[in-house]
Amino acid sequence: MDAIRILGGVPLTGEIVIGGAKNAALPLMAASILTGEPLTLINMPELVDISTMSNLLRQHGARIDQSALAPGSSEAGPTGRSMTLTADRITNVTAPYDLVRRMRAGFFVLGPLLARMGEAKVSLPGGCAIGTRGVDLHLMALEMLGAKITVKEGYVYASVAGGRLKGAKVTFPKVTVGGTENLLMAAALADGDTILENAAREPEISNLADCLNAMGAEVTGIGSGTLHVRGKKTLHGARVAVIPDRIETGTYAMAAAITRGRIVLKGTQIELLESVFNALRQAGVSIEPTADGVIVAAENGLRGIDVITEPFPGFPTDLQAQWMALMATASGASMITETIFENRFMHVPELRRFGVDVNVHGASAIVRGPAKMSGAPVMATDLRASSSLILGGLAAEGETVVNRIYHLDRGYERLEEKLGACGARIERIVGA
Ligand code: UD1
Repeated sequence: MDAIRILGGVPLTGEIVIGGAKNAALPLMAASILTGEPLTLINMPELVDISTMSNLLRQHGARIDQSALAPGSSEAGPTGRSMTLTADRITNVTAPYDLVRRMRAGFFVLGPLLARMGEAKVSLPGGCAIGTRGVDLHLMALEMLGAKITVKEGYVYASVAGGRLKGAKVTFPKVTVGGTENLLMAAALADGDTILENAAREPEISNLADCLNAMGAEVTGIGSGTLHVRGKKTLHGARVAVIPDRIETGTYAMAAAITRGRIVLKGTQIELLESVFNALRQAGVSIEPTADGVIVAAENGLRGIDVITEPFPGFPTDLQAQWMALMATASGASMITETIFENRFMHVPELRRFGVDVNVHGASAIVRGPAKMSGAPVMATDLRASSSLILGGLAAEGETVVNRIYHLDRGYERLEEKLGACGARIERIVGA
């Protein structure tokens, strides 16, 4: 298994191009199942999760062509990569355990398969070990659209009498990003209208809703907590850009801050994570928006700031672990409260290995800084925890080895290269 070695203590300076958002690209790829015509996605990230989703869709019968275009051109987006998915023939409605266990987003094929084919058999998902992460709300919502669902032997068996889902009013008892996405895709190809209340408002949901509209669906209320979907008999092909990755943006903004450096983040949008930039500003980090991104710079004298993770537009849970690493270098106390997942402090014991003073009380962690951090061997436990350990390693004096980094490759593209270009002394140890 690969590891990453870092010699920390270097202020990072330079430029990083932000990739397309993993969490937007994955449901957009699943949406290709809704039509027999080609769906072209531009500004695609290159990540293990994207390959896993490609493999999943291929075994359902989709054809996938990838091409490299000139990065930065209007045709290509900042990443320069596009992908065309054509699901003209669905040859198999089973999403097997071996693929869905690697990545929770594999479960996104359930709604589209059911809506297009009238049946689906999808393994219960895996993904990061950050809580129980049920799929009961996905299933509840699809049942309200007329699906008959049974769960046995680790699989969800779903079918609908007459082969067509029917629009309905669905109120989620809890905000769920994936649940909203699965239901949106199913409702786009259902008979009649669906009203979705307490829908998630994440930018990735808006990206999906815009894509469905480009495919001929009628989704309104985009960006709000109530979405209206007028279902269509068929949908057609489209060409859609993946939004910039706000979690990658936030992670590298914190890399600039934690090393007291200055990084120009290109190809991103500050509006995608205002809550995070507000917290950074309050902590004393300088944030300067540019035409296509933001410049993040910090000197000593950062202050501890409290944050609470919340559904969008609140502070994202996917940046909570990285924020904790940053707060270890700030003066004073910072209380970090996690409200989305019940088991998302697994980075705490690992951060302590750098000399960070952090205590957990229920759903809150208190960090008391500034810590004099020193490098240490640490173990990555989930995707975003991995990046907080990378940040810790960048800030700590001496050598850090982050072990078990396979989660990192699921969500961060060429991380060593991007940080290395800003002066970080960082390398991958293959097969460590
Ligand atoms: C998505 C993101 C993930 C992010 C999370 C919250 C993708 C691929 N992943 O995950 O990076 O951390 O949103 O912003 O986009 N829940 C249930 N039952 C359900 C569904 C969810 O109890 O059927 C619970 C979950 O356990 C969790 C909470 O609801 O406690 C929110 O989960 P949800 O918004 O669904 O997260 P994901 O879509 O899995």
